[in-house]
Amino acid sequence: MSKQMSHLDDIPSTPGKFKMEKSPFVHNRLRWHSSLAKLTFWSFIFLGLILIFFFRSPSSNPLPQDPSRRSLRTYNWGGPAWEKRVRSSACVRSHNGISVLVTGAAGFVGTHVSAALKRRGDGVLGLDNFNDYYDPSLKRARQALLERSGVFIVEGDINDSALLRKLFEVVAFTHVMHLAAQAGVRYAMENPGSYVHSNIAGLVSLLEVCKSANPQPAIVWASSSSVYGLNTKVPFSEKDRTDQPASLYAATKKAGEEIAHTYNHIYGLSLTGLRFFTVYGPWGRPDMAYFFFTRDILKGKSIPIFEAANHGTVARDFTYIDDIVKGCLAALDTAEKSTGSGGKKKGPAQLRVYNLGNTSPVPVSDLVSILERLLKVNAKRDIMKLPRNGDVQFTHANISLAQRELGYKPSTDLQTGLKKFVRWYLGYYNGGKKAAG
Ligand SMILES: NC(=O)c1ccc[n+]([C@@H]2O[C@H](COP(=O)([O-])OP(=O)(O)OC[C@H]3O[C@@H](n4cnc5c(N)ncnc54)[C@H](O)[C@@H]3O)[C@@H](O)[C@H]2O)c1
Repeated sequence: MSKQMSHLDDIPSTPGKFKMEKSPFVHNRLRWHSSLAKLTFWSFIFLGLILIFFFRSPSSNPLPQDPSRRSLRTYNWGGPAWEKRVRSSACVRSHNGISVLVTGAAGFVGTHVSAALKRRGDGVLGLDNFNDYYDPSLKRARQALLERSGVFIVEGDINDSALLRKLFEVVAFTHVMHLAAQAGVRYAMENPGSYVHSNIAGLVSLLEVCKSANPQPAIVWASSSSVYGLNTKVPFSEKDRTDQPASLYAATKKAGEEIAHTYNHIYGLSLTGLRFFTVYGPWGRPDMAYFFFTRDILKGKSIPIFEAANHGTVARDFTYIDDIVKGCLAALDTAEKSTGSGGKKKGPAQLRVYNLGNTSPVPVSDLVSILERLLKVNAKRDIMKLPRNGDVQFTHANISLAQRELGYKPSTDLQTGLKKFVRWYLGYYNGGKKAAG
C-alpha cells in the first residue's frame, strides 16, 4: 500500500510529462485495463444520462418528501411560447413605466406588489418556486389572480443562475423587486437549510446575475425588522445595532444586508433594503399569528398567547399590506440607476435601508380582541411563556427616514386592516367552500 502511494507520488501533476516504459506483458495488461476502463467509463455515462433523464422528467419529479432536498427540484422553462409570455408580461404599457422582475411573486407581499405595479402600467414578470413552506394552493390562487391581470409568474428558483440569465437575456429589466425568501422564524428548527438556500445562496445567485446584466437593474429587496433582534432601544431606527439576531431567519436577513452592501460597493449595484414590520392583510401568510388565530378561533380551538417574563406584554408593529406596497413602489420609483456595467463598477451607487412599519405597536392580546369582535366568536386564550425560539418581545418602527425620503405614510390602523383581512378570509375559505385547515 505504502509502495503504491509512493509510486503515485512520483507521477508529475502535469499530465503528458510522464512516460512509462512498456514491456509486452505490461502492454497487454494495459490494453485490457484500458478496455475495462472504457467499459466502466461508458457505464457511468449511461447511468448518468438515465439519472439526468429521471430528474428532469416533470412526471417523475413530484415535490421531494424531505424539505431539505427541495433545492434539487427542477422546473421546465424556455422555448418560444414561454419567451413570448415572459416578454408580454414584462412589457411596459405606461409612459415612463419601469420593467420589474418580482421574485417571490406568488408570495403574500409579492402578489400585492406585482398587482399594484401592473395596475399603473409597469412591466412585471414574477418568479417563484412555489415551495410548500405553507399551503401551495394559496400560492396557486394568488398566481391565478395575477394571471388575470396579465402578470406571468415563471416557476423557478432564484438559485437557478441559467434561468435568471435567460430572463435578463429576454427582458432588459430596469428594476428587481426581490421578495423571494424563506420567511418565518420557527421553521428553522425543522429546516435550517432552507434559510441558507433562499436567503443567502439565492440572494448571491440573484445579485451575481444582476451584476453581470447589461444594463444592471436597480434592486429593492425585503429585509426584516427581525434584524433588530434583542435590541431594546425603541422605536427601532435604521441606525440602531443589528448584531444580536434572535433567530436563524434574522441572522440570514442580516447576512443578506451585508451581502447586498458588498455588491453595491464592489459592482456598483443600486440597492435598497426594506425592513418590513409584521405585514398583514388579505391573501396573507397562514404561518402568521393573525392568520392562524382567525382559523383557530373559528374552529373553536385554543390559541397560544405569549407573555414575556414577569407577565410582560408581547406587542407587534402590525403594518397593513397596502401601506407596505406603497413603500415598495416609492422605493422602486426613487431608486437610482446602478453604475456598473459588464460586472465592473464605474462609480459609487445608491445604497439605502428603510424601516417600513406602522409606528404603533399593538399587544397581541388586543389583536385577539379585535378578531373576536370581527368574527363574533370568543377566543379560547392559552397564555404561555414566550419560547426562546426566535420570537422577540416587541417590535416598534421609527419610520421618519422613509417618511422623509420615500414619502411613506402608513394610513391603515389595525382595526380597519383586520376587517379587510377577515372579509377576505371568510370569502376565500368559507364562501369558497374550502376548509380553513
Ligand atoms: N410578511 C411579513 O410580515 C414580513 C416581515 C418582514 C420581512 N418579510 C420579508 O418580505 C418578503 C416577502 O414575504 P412574504 O410575507 O410575502 O412571504 P411569502 O413566503 O408569502 O413569500 C415568499 C415567496 O418566495 C418564494 N420563494 C422562497 N424561496 C424561493 C426561492 N429559492 N426561489 C424562488 N422563490 C422562492 C415562496 O414560494 C413564496 O411564494 C420576504 O423576504 C420576507 O422575509 C415579510
